[in-house]
Amino acid sequence: MASPVHVIVVGAGSRGENYSRFASIHPKRMKVVGVADPRKFARTKLQKQHNIADDNIFGDWHGVAEKEKFADAVLICTPDHLHKTPAVAFANKGYHILLEKPMATTAEDCRAIVEACTRSGVILSVGHVLRYDPLIHQIKELIDAGVIGDVIHIQHFEPVGFYHFAHSFVRGNWRNEAESSFALLAKSCHDIDLIHHWAGARRCVKVSSFGSLSHFRKQDKPKGAADRCLDCSIETDCPYSACKIYMDRVKQGHTGWPVSVICPNSFPDMESVTEALKTGPYGRCVYECDNDVCSNQVVNMEFEGGVTAAFTMVAFTEEICQRKTTIYGSKGELSYNGCQVRVFDFLTQRSTIHTAHNNAPTDFGMNGHGRADYHLIDAFISAVANNDPSLIRSGPEETLLSHLLVFKAERSRRESRVVYCDETSQS
Ligand SMILES: NC(=O)c1ccc[n+]([C@@H]2O[C@H](COP(=O)([O-])OP(=O)(O)OC[C@H]3O[C@@H](n4cnc5c(N)ncnc54)[C@H](O)[C@@H]3O)[C@@H](O)[C@H]2O)c1
Repeated sequence: MASPVHVIVVGAGSRGENYSRFASIHPKRMKVVGVADPRKFARTKLQKQHNIADDNIFGDWHGVAEKEKFADAVLICTPDHLHKTPAVAFANKGYHILLEKPMATTAEDCRAIVEACTRSGVILSVGHVLRYDPLIHQIKELIDAGVIGDVIHIQHFEPVGFYHFAHSFVRGNWRNEAESSFALLAKSCHDIDLIHHWAGARRCVKVSSFGSLSHFRKQDKPKGAADRCLDCSIETDCPYSACKIYMDRVKQGHTGWPVSVICPNSFPDMESVTEALKTGPYGRCVYECDNDVCSNQVVNMEFEGGVTAAFTMVAFTEEICQRKTTIYGSKGELSYNGCQVRVFDFLTQRSTIHTAHNNAPTDFGMNGHGRADYHLIDAFISAVANNDPSLIRSGPEETLLSHLLVFKAERSRRESRVVYCDETSQS
C-alpha cells in the first residue's frame, strides 16, 4: 500500500481547513504534516485535528519555505495578494501545489507562477472548483460529444446572493480592491474560466465589460441608520442587517459559514459573535464600509470562429452562487440550472435530461460549489500520488489563459472600450 500524500496547509482559514478535511476522511491517501498561519487559533485547531508535530507549526509561510522540503505538496490558501510569492517559492523547492483562485492579482504574477511551476516540473492545480463539479463537467462532455452541434453562443449567469455579497464584498475580505482584488477576478474568474473552456479554449478575440458598485454606498444609507447594526434603530427593516445575517443564525445553532468567518480567533457563540459585531468589520452598516468592488458586472466576449458569450454577475439575488447557463448550438440548446442539464435537439424536437452521480460527502465544501471542493482535492491528491498531471482539470496553461481574459475584461470596464485581445499590453 502506497503511503499517503503528505501536505502542508499554508493559510489555515476557511479554504485551508476545508481541503484538509480530506485527510480525516481518507487518512490512507492524504496526511497533513504541517501548517502555517499567523492566527494561533487557526493553526492550533488544525494541529489538533491532524496531530501535527510542534516542529512543523509556523506563524508564516516563509518558515515553511526556509525549512528543508518535508512534504510532497502545499495547499496555498492565503489571501489573494499572498499567492504569488509563496507559490513561486514552493515551486522552486519542488513542492506540488494546490493554489487557491485567483492565481494572483496581476497578469504578470500569474505568468510568473506558471513559469516557476513549469520550470520546476511540479504539478499545479488552481482552485477552480467548478471544473470538478460532476454535473458541470458533463456540460463539456456533452458539447464534445456533439449533442448541440457547433457552439454558437454561451450565456452564463452568476447570482452572488444578497447577504453573501454583503458579507464578503461589502464588509468582508474581498470588499476593497487594494486589499484583495477586483470583483471579476475574486468572484468570477471561475466563470470566465468555464466560458473559455466551453468555447473550446479558443482564443478570445475581443471583450467588453460594464459594471459598477451599486447601492452599498454612503449615499444609499437610509435616514436614521446608525454606523453599526447593534446600535441601529431601523435595523429590523434592513435586509443586510448584521443581526439578521449572524446573530439570528447563532440563535438557531448555526455556527458554520458565514458566522465562523467573523470570529477569527475563537469558536463562534453568542458572546463572541456579539463582540465581533460590536467591534469588528462585520458589525458595520453596509452603507458605511470601505468597500469599492463592483456589485454588478457584465462581460461580452467574441472568440475565434465567431463564438460569442455573455456573462452576468450580480449581487442582488435570492440564490447564492447557483449558476445558470444556456449554451446555444447549431443542432440544439443546452441548459444548466444547478440540478440538471437539459438538452433540446432541434431535429427531433425532444429534450433529454442529464444528472450526475455525486459521491462527495454532503457536508464537504462551500454552498454553491456542488461539493466540487471535495472532487478538486481528490483529483489533486490522486495526481500527486500517481505523478499524473492529466488528472488536474485546472492546470497551469488553460487557467492562465482564462485569468488573462479576466484582466482584459476588467480593463475594458475601466477604460470604457472594447479591448482587442492581441493588443500589446501588460496583460
Ligand atoms: N475556490 C473557491 O471557490 C474559493 C472560495 C473562497 C475563497 N477562495 C480563495 O481562497 C483563499 C483563502 O480564502 P479563505 O476564505 O480561506 O480566507 P481566510 O481569511 O479564511 O483564510 C486565509 C488564511 O491565510 C492566513 N494567512 C495570512 N497571511 C499568512 C501568511 N503570511 N502565511 C500563512 N498564512 C497566512 C490568514 O490568517 C487566514 O487564516 C483566497 O485567495 C480566496 O480568494 C476560493
